[in-house]
Amino acid sequence: MSTTPASIIGTATPRIDGPLKTTGVAEYTADFHFERMVHAVPVIASIASGRITRLDTAAAEKMPGVLLVLHHGNIGPLYRTVPGDDNATNSEVRSAFEDEIVRHWGQYVAVAVAETLEQATAAAAAVNVEYEKQAANLRVSLDDFEGEPKTISGRGDFDEAFDSAPVKIDATYITPIETHNPIELHASVVVWEGEHVTMYETSQGVVNHRAVMAQVLGLPLENVRVVTRFLGSGFGGKLFPWPHAAMAAVAARKLDRPVKLSLTRRMMFSSVGYRPRTEQHIQLGATKEGKLLALRHHFVNVTSQLDDFEEGCGEATPYLYSVANLEVTGGMVRRHVGAPMYMRGPGAVPGLFALEAGMNELADELKMDPLQLRLINDAEKDESNKDIPFSSRHLKECYEVGAKKFGWEKRTAGIGSMRRDGKVLGWGLAGASWVALRLPCTASVEFCASGRLCVRCGTQDIGTGTYTIFAQVLHEKTGVPLDRIDVILGDSSLPNGPMSGGSMVTGSVLNAIAAGAENAIKRLQQVAAATPGSPYHEAKLETIGFTDGRVHKKDQPAEYGTHFGDILQMAKLNGVSAEGKTQPSWEDPKAKGFSLHSYGAQFVEVEWEPEIARLRVSRVVTVIDAGRIINPKAAANQISGAVVMGIGMGLLEETVYDQRTGQPINGSMADYLMATCADSPEIDVTFLNYPDPVMGEYGARGVGEIGLAGVAPAITAAVYHATGVRVRELPVRIEHLLQSKILEA
Ligand code: MOS
Repeated sequence: MSTTPASIIGTATPRIDGPLKTTGVAEYTADFHFERMVHAVPVIASIASGRITRLDTAAAEKMPGVLLVLHHGNIGPLYRTVPGDDNATNSEVRSAFEDEIVRHWGQYVAVAVAETLEQATAAAAAVNVEYEKQAANLRVSLDDFEGEPKTISGRGDFDEAFDSAPVKIDATYITPIETHNPIELHASVVVWEGEHVTMYETSQGVVNHRAVMAQVLGLPLENVRVVTRFLGSGFGGKLFPWPHAAMAAVAARKLDRPVKLSLTRRMMFSSVGYRPRTEQHIQLGATKEGKLLALRHHFVNVTSQLDDFEEGCGEATPYLYSVANLEVTGGMVRRHVGAPMYMRGPGAVPGLFALEAGMNELADELKMDPLQLRLINDAEKDESNKDIPFSSRHLKECYEVGAKKFGWEKRTAGIGSMRRDGKVLGWGLAGASWVALRLPCTASVEFCASGRLCVRCGTQDIGTGTYTIFAQVLHEKTGVPLDRIDVILGDSSLPNGPMSGGSMVTGSVLNAIAAGAENAIKRLQQVAAATPGSPYHEAKLETIGFTDGRVHKKDQPAEYGTHFGDILQMAKLNGVSAEGKTQPSWEDPKAKGFSLHSYGAQFVEVEWEPEIARLRVSRVVTVIDAGRIINPKAAANQISGAVVMGIGMGLLEETVYDQRTGQPINGSMADYLMATCADSPEIDVTFLNYPDPVMGEYGARGVGEIGLAGVAPAITAAVYHATGVRVRELPVRIEHLLQSKILEA
């Protein structure tokens, strides 16, 4: 492990937005309120497949306070987004109320708008919709996949190598539909001024959201502004716009009044995405010594009737292990459900459940320590991409450090062989990986005459600590104290910033901010030299320094210098600003030839009480190689949260649909099981903290999703170790565990 630098970069820093949140000052979308604002409540389909034959709004329209009921017949034109336009990615192909076909339970069929939320809710309930029902395909199993699977990656000759391999694993793994459950409900608050619209949105990407809404509403881009100051998380569910935003926008325009539309939790289970069910076939062939000879990973995921959503389970498989013969393929199967959406660690997380569970089974088959199996098959170069080097890969060290912290060498291999305090212990491990990229973006840094320093970027803080790390970088570059730094994010009118997705904001934006700060310092020094009366008037630029917020002569200490605010006041300027840009990693000649990923190792202990069939995760050690860590406090929060989510994935989460209606049966916070504090064990988070040399100035790759990867397969390995039950379908249930032959501790 590298040492911690003596700088604010790498120092645990409390969130600068913490006080705003704890005092309730931070404005989340649904907190925005405007004069004359009215409320919109969607009407949702009660069938999974069919046609609307009659939509009667007369009763609803006569109810007190009701202003408008929008539906297919009167919403007017809404457009689709241009296919393949990466700058305007929408969640669903179809626009709101586009036709009268119903393709999933919960699809919006109308929206009622009234003076109060209660009036709108009552009106929505009074809209009478009749349907011509058609047979809905809600089959849970995806074994009806037909057609040619898409090849994701391939090398060597899998079939031949697998056939002749002395040791084999051939198994199918299943992950269920999981629903995003951020605390904050999806919402839109829309205000029009003439032809210009401002949309307060629950969005992980205001710049993309603006581009989508401009296309959907048929407006010039410059007429749309999207604002997300604070987000109560999203986990991917808020990456791209959902149809309710356009519904609110049209209602606000027709009424010429601000409109608020906030979904209910139940609607969040049917109309704003989910992690799709996956069925994954893993075939592994190895020598008797455990060297991988052949690896095949084929996955199928569920999608909706109209959206081609590929879960990408094969993302980490091609490069994680050294194996000469490999085949990764995928496909999708349609059901009458809403559109899936990326959910924390999309693709790789369910994909690694299958791959790492398969590796653990292979280790058992070989009677080999699963740690040892990982170490001897570790890849030294990216065999899926012309053998290019990894930019910075310390996966072996993750395993070694984790094993030491966890006490792995004390593990005895026999099923049910470890006991503590009358409980059976199970120990399992798995590897983790997640992609890294540097996305293009711009940040603007401004020194103000008020003595404050600010940075502006059209990215957003989705609850992860983005505000704080941006302030840390500005402090590091300028010496201006954190309480005089303003970080302004979450507005599409700011310089273009990236989506808060894929754990990519940190590694991307810090470079632009650092460059912006350096450029702004140069501008300030130019102002100092150009201002009559300034102590630096007509000084050569190379003789002017800048330290701790002060302009000074380089041959004098900073304390003799002049504060930037005073320089600006002398110059009669309100501020000077400069932009910095981040070059995308795929265009950077220094980064291009490298395979960029983060890594991790997860060690899990479960306690099994056979008498009462109770299983709990009792301890997790996680070691993360995610480049340099900017704020260990916020980063550890991210990893701990991801581990808790991994416990939910392993033991609890699954969205279940009524086979008759297509309605999620457990579509509420009461019925959908998620890991709570009581389910959360002691979590030991370690960062290796190696700066990634190709990620730019700080060598950060970002955290967030990597902490979830590998948790579920480590849990199922621990479950097997404790109980002897091999669970290949998540979540692990009591029904599975009752098959255990370990009947008493
Ligand atoms: Mo994440 S699923 O990229 O928000």
